[in-house]
Order: sequence, then structure tokens, then C-alpha cells
Amino acid sequence: MQKLAILGSGFISEFYASSILGQRSKDEIIIAASRSEESTKKFAEKFNIPEYSTDLNKAINHPDVSIVVIGLPNYLHLETVLACAKAGKGVICTKPLGRNAAEALQMLRAVEKAGIFHGYMEDLVYTPKTLKAIENVKQGSLGRILWAKSRETHPGPHSDWFWDKEKAGGGAILDLACHCIEIGRSFIGKEQKPIEVMCWAATQVKPIDAEDHAIGLVKYANGAIGQFEVSWTFRGGLDIRDEVMGTEGTIWLNHFLRTGFDMFTAPGQSGYVAEKAESDSGWIFPVADENQDLGYNHMFNDMFTAYENKTSPTETFYDGYVVNAIMDAAYLSVKSKKWEAIEIEDWRGEEPDSAASHSLASYNDQYYLLKEEVMPNGGKTLLLKDKKTGEIIRK
Ligand SMILES: NC(=O)c1ccc[n+]([C@@H]2O[C@H](COP(=O)([O-])OP(=O)(O)OC[C@H]3O[C@@H](n4cnc5c(N)ncnc54)[C@H](O)[C@@H]3O)[C@@H](O)[C@H]2O)c1
Repeated sequence: MQKLAILGSGFISEFYASSILGQRSKDEIIIAASRSEESTKKFAEKFNIPEYSTDLNKAINHPDVSIVVIGLPNYLHLETVLACAKAGKGVICTKPLGRNAAEALQMLRAVEKAGIFHGYMEDLVYTPKTLKAIENVKQGSLGRILWAKSRETHPGPHSDWFWDKEKAGGGAILDLACHCIEIGRSFIGKEQKPIEVMCWAATQVKPIDAEDHAIGLVKYANGAIGQFEVSWTFRGGLDIRDEVMGTEGTIWLNHFLRTGFDMFTAPGQSGYVAEKAESDSGWIFPVADENQDLGYNHMFNDMFTAYENKTSPTETFYDGYVVNAIMDAAYLSVKSKKWEAIEIEDWRGEEPDSAASHSLASYNDQYYLLKEEVMPNGGKTLLLKDKKTGEIIRK
């Protein structure tokens, strides 16, 4: 059982608190802290949190608190993580870990030096669908992973600070590609070194200094490609989808909008339908259980179980740091319009093996297999390539 402090009483903290305290949980939030007294009090009352404060340090240093849950704007992650390290408290921080890799590395070094528990709250790798898909990929059901594409697009964030490039650290890339990149790493294999990034980004609609739309490719040492598609200009709600392609199989995941729950309502459903929903009447796309479907429940279970077992959770500050390093390279690529190297000062996975090669699909000793297909006339076509001469034949 954990006794928690939660920092922030805004959008994400609502989800965090309802997930932590939901389903007859044994964990307790004993203090909430954020900037405005009125909203912190309201938040504490809603979730039956016995203490609240506008002083973040009071919550961090509360003698009974074991883990601090950070749900604050991006520009406050570094200073609050450093305060947790100083207080010797376990800390779990929302995404993105830092506004850049330098901030993330500072946080990683601080928690490791202090020897405290740390977790990176990347909920989207904990959705039930993603957990199952990752398990299948690890069992080899898809063969070698060649490409992992992840998309998160919506009509734009809900709070002022997101739109301020200095406070947020960036635009749609920093806010949303952090999710997509970690999903890609989880399918491709976190031990695989991300090598370089090619990224396009633009400010197409919103009057902001940062990008409101971007598409990027992340190349890994084993040749696999991670792809992110992010936007703050997408109309229609929150679209979260992943596609994984391997040599032996494919996975398509639809997490939001089109999850299999479509509803038509002429009078409309007043109030909240689902995150970033743009309509509450006509055809709407409710989400059965957002805490479950967005991964919050499994994420907190992993975090607190790891803390109790004195192990590391699936997502640590190291993962947050690697993701930030990839996004730094993406921003460089947007400017240079070239592939940019990813600088990871402290790489802990496999070293790239320049001699590594993948075997091509073989048919027999003489031929490679190009393609086998049943044709409209019912006959079978077989396309083969001679291993010695290179001649391509049809059988
Ligand atoms: N799926 C996800 O993982 C997800 C989704 C949304 C947001 N987030 C992340 O959560 C963090 C917060 O985002 P949000 O959407 O909850 O923002 P928000 O604006 O809704 O809430 C921010 C909270 O921080 C408090 N706050 C702001 N400045 C403060 C200060 N100086 N001192 C103390 N408290 C202060 C506010 O009072 C508010 O309670 C961001 O890092 C964001 O990227 C994660």
C-alpha cells in the first residue's frame, strides 16, 4: 500500500487520482498540492484527500508520503523532481520527462544519485491492447519488427501553458510524439539503439511559435523504423492508433475514437463524452473506461508493485531520457531537413553491430522466395530468384 502526494490538480491529475483510487484500491493519496487554493481544495474534496496545500514542497516533504506523483506542466518537472531527490522520496513523473534531453538527464542523474524509486508515466504503453500486442511481439508472433507506426492527433490541448513554447518546451512533437516514440521503442525493442531521426513539422493552423503538426521517422540500429504522426490541428476528437509490421505478421491497434463503441444520439449526451471529443450529439464515440483503455490502471499497478518489490517499473526515467533525446534530434531535423543523429550520452542497451545482417527469404538451396499467391483464376503463382545468377522466374 502506498501513501501518495499528488502534485497538480488539473486534467491529468483527475485521471491519475481516479485511477489510483478506483476499483477499491488499497493505495491512498494523503496530500494534494497545486497552485490555486480553490482548485486544489475542490480536487481534494472530490477524491477524499485529507490534506491539501498550495506549497508543493510541503507535499513532497510530508513525512508519511512514500511516492510523489507529478502531474504538473512540463516546465515544473525538473525542479519538482530535484526536490523529491533532495527529500529522498520515490517519484513518478508524467510525460514528457523534460522539455529536452538535458533536463531529462539532470532528473535521471538526480534520482539515481539519491537512490530513490523513479517511474516515467507513459500510460500508452500500458493499455490492455498494447500490453497484449507487446507480449505477442516478444513471443515472435510477428517475426522481426520492421516498422512501428504510432499516431496521436487531436484539435489541440486544453491549458494555456501547452501553447507557450518556453513553458511547454515545444509543440505537438514534445506533447504527443513522446507517446508515439515510446510505443515504437516498446515494439521494436528497447535494447535497440535509436540512431537517427528525419522529421517534418509545421505550424499550419494555430498562431503559435511551436509546431502544430509533425511526422517523423526514427531509425534503429537493427534497421527497424519507428514512425510518429502527431497533430494539434486534427478535427474529430482524439485519434490514437498504432500499426506494427513484422516479417511474419501485422498488428493494428485502435485506442480511441473508433474502438468499437459507436453511438448515435439525436438529443445529445450533455457534458463530457471522451477526451477531446468535439461533439456530444449525432454519432459519438464514447470510451468504455478511459482509465483502463488509456493504460492508467496497469501503469500504476506496475509502478507501485515495482516500488514494493524493490525493482524497476517497465517505464523509468531512463526511458523518459531516451525519448527526450529522440525528440531533440527530431527538432534538429525539422530545421536542417536532413537525418539527424540522436545523441544519447548514457546508452545502456545493445551496442550496434555493424556486421549484423538479416537473412533473405529462402525457397530452397537454389532460389530465394519473392512471392507466392493464389490468382483470380484459382491457379498459384510462384516468383523465385536464382541465388547465383539473380534471374527472376515465375513458376
Ligand atoms: N496521457 C498523459 O500521459 C497526459 C495527458 C495530459 C497531460 N499530461 C501531462 O501532465 C502534465 C500536466 O498537464 P495537464 O493537462 O494536467 O495540465 P493542466 O493545466 O490541466 O494542470 C496543471 C496543474 O498544475 C498546476 N500548476 C500550474 N502551475 C503551477 C505552479 N507554478 N505551482 C503549482 N502548481 C501549478 C495547476 O494548478 C494545475 O492543477 C504535463 O506535463 C502534460 O504533458 C499527460
